[in-house]
Amino acid sequence: MVTPSQPDPRPEEETVRYVIEDQVAWVYFNRPDKRNCMSPKLNRQMKRVIEELEFRDDVAVLVLTGEGAAWSAGMDLLEYFRMNEDKGLGAIRQAQREAYGWWERLRWYEKPTIAMVNGWCFGGGYGPLFACDLAFCADDAQFGLSEINWAILPGGGASKVAAELLNFRDAMYHAMMGENLSGPEAAAKGLVNESVPAGELKARVTEVAQKLAKKDGHALRATKWAIRRVREMTYDNAEDYLIRAQEALNDFGGWATRKEATKQFLDQKTFKPGLGAFDKSKLKQD
Ligand code: COA
Repeated sequence: MVTPSQPDPRPEEETVRYVIEDQVAWVYFNRPDKRNCMSPKLNRQMKRVIEELEFRDDVAVLVLTGEGAAWSAGMDLLEYFRMNEDKGLGAIRQAQREAYGWWERLRWYEKPTIAMVNGWCFGGGYGPLFACDLAFCADDAQFGLSEINWAILPGGGASKVAAELLNFRDAMYHAMMGENLSGPEAAAKGLVNESVPAGELKARVTEVAQKLAKKDGHALRATKWAIRRVREMTYDNAEDYLIRAQEALNDFGGWATRKEATKQFLDQKTFKPGLGAFDKSKLKQD
């Protein structure tokens, strides 16, 4: 006999878990039994967790990943859709704001973010996927805009993400056909940076995160925000925005940082910007 799905009894604070190791915060969607689909409880908890991590001195990079076999199976059809639709428009809007709110926070996060896609990634999952600055996946991960398969459109930003990251024909095919892409296919089409064998995924993401952790955090923030902002600007507006952004960066210790980096290259000849980052530990000692 088939048992209909029931609401998840897991307490709100357990829907997300995180560990901090060597300046990297590993944040897990933590509803593996439900393939990490996003319920209102998870959305509220995720916002709390990422906001708590954002300004901690012991965190330089945030990695978003999933517990178990899924990254995230998208929105929770029971707790996000059906239960709120039964309650009415107010509940629907509140649930949307809770979900969209943390994705927006993540799109403009102060620190570099990496999606480590370990398994299923569907529909609403494309919101946080795009919100992360970089994305790496396991070869056996599966990406899908499954919405068409249950007769809705890819909402919650998912259509926008497909149109942003894929070329026009691929975005159309992906959204209209409801067929999944494997990890290597997702990488070839630009949904993620790289796809690697599952057993190598954490090591590769750790390597990238550690490299980022060694760079100047203020410059990284200005850089990632610049890349997101200029996508929607004319060339002239982008040029002007970048002047202003660099000048704002100068107020975050930018002059001293740049002076030190330039000294290490021109005077001390201890590094070459073309081959790696300057030693920022020297900056703290001065
Ligand atoms: N919403 C609500 N519940 C979900 C869910 C979702 N998006 N994705 C998975 N679940 C639940 C299942 O209902 C099941 O719950 P139960 O144990 O109470 O029956 C549990 O998670 C395990 O899912 P199951 O389908 O048995 O796992 P699977 O490994 O065989 O298949 C998927 C995994 C991801 C292919 C399948 O769960 C699926 O298609 N999910 C929906 C994906 C989707 O369309 N998301 C887009 C939403 S916008």
